Amino acid sequence: MKDQKTISGFSKLSKRGKIKWIAKNFFTDPEGVKNELVSYWHNNEDQQKILDGFSENTISNYPMPYGVAPNFVINNKPYCVPMVIEESSVVAAASSAAKFWMSRGGFKTEILNTKKVGQVHFKWEGEKDKLFSNFSTLKAKLINDSKSLTKNMEERGGGIGEIELIDFTDKEENYYQLKVSFETCDSMGANFINSILEQFALTLKNFCIKEKSFEGAEKEVKIIMSILSNYTPECVVRATVSCNIDKLGKFPNGMSSEEFAHKFETAINIAHIDPYRATTHNKGIFNGIDSVVIATGNDFRAIEACGHTYASKDGSYKSLSHCEVKDDEFKFWLDIPLAIGTVGGLTSLHPIAKRSLELLGSPNAEELMGIIAATGLAQNFAAVRSLITVGIQQGHMKMHLLNILNHLQATELEIKSAVEFFNNKVISFSSVRDFIKKKRSKASKMVTD
Ligand code: MEV
Repeated sequence: MKDQKTISGFSKLSKRGKIKWIAKNFFTDPEGVKNELVSYWHNNEDQQKILDGFSENTISNYPMPYGVAPNFVINNKPYCVPMVIEESSVVAAASSAAKFWMSRGGFKTEILNTKKVGQVHFKWEGEKDKLFSNFSTLKAKLINDSKSLTKNMEERGGGIGEIELIDFTDKEENYYQLKVSFETCDSMGANFINSILEQFALTLKNFCIKEKSFEGAEKEVKIIMSILSNYTPECVVRATVSCNIDKLGKFPNGMSSEEFAHKFETAINIAHIDPYRATTHNKGIFNGIDSVVIATGNDFRAIEACGHTYASKDGSYKSLSHCEVKDDEFKFWLDIPLAIGTVGGLTSLHPIAKRSLELLGSPNAEELMGIIAATGLAQNFAAVRSLITVGIQQGHMKMHLLNILNHLQATELEIKSAVEFFNNKVISFSSVRDFIKKKRSKASKMVTD
């Protein structure tokens, strides 16, 4: 297809060349868009080169707000948590929940386990018994052949864990799997795991060719793929808050702490019963989780994919958080798999990710897992607290009002009077626009009079 909107050799164009082509072919104001895209380039060329190095065909940067939530006390240690998120209210909610729990013992976190997983998927047409009876010899070869790859990680205390041979032939003809567990210490470990798996695949192929008892079998083994699994149900952190029900304090509209605790527990139970609610409930948790994961240069797609699979582990999609009100005690906790790192990848390359880790006191991976989980729990607490008391719109719309005012390019004075005016009124784009319009026409009338 030859069209103005398609091109070959785009990647070879300079950055300005790419912008020029896009501006000419996709925009009605080429000059405007060119200037706008260039205006987001970093003013330090070296910094821009680092950012460009993360991806391909880069033409500009996409700014996102970088906020912080202070007053998190996690395992008796204070933190100011960096959060990258574009949704208003999230950082305010996290900060408010952090402050609430700060005076009630703070967050406690516990690493339940830290195992990562990878798989070599292959087809074997030969006798099943041959494969299984030779598996211990194969296993020794797999470990031996990958020694040069595991040396550094082993020195840091990690490496390969169990290697299992799994028979899936009842689901897919001749399909087997090598399922491997790994410890990757402070790194997320994707490159480490994938390199080892590809070596395993080679070893498996060679084993079938060279091993005496496998003579003639080389035609029978076919590697399908070798890749880590982003599902890490054994790399889980638990974050908990708890206090005596009396200590929960007072809530809006005269709601007692007792009533709050039971209503809160019911709200969490509902998210365990109904996937429609569970999805929104967990989305609230990921508002907190993703924003810290992004701020620290980790892979939020991997964390999301894993979290949602984990939420379905019992056969239906459920809440990731739990609540128990028992013997005058309110306990609220979150179990979440978090395969993240504090070394390697973007964590040490992205200038702001590096600063985020510094802000958090340069945590190791386990400490960061705890911080991320606590932020997810805080977010969930704040959302459910609003939902069962004043409703979500009050807080949301307050923040939304500021967004609308910014969009309307309101002055400081206009913002102040709009915030006062809409304090107890329903906020919508048109109501705010009309309010500002009236204000401005009144002001211009005063000038002409
Ligand atoms: C909005 O981003 C998140 C909430 O919908 C979460 C929830 O309903 O629990 C408020």
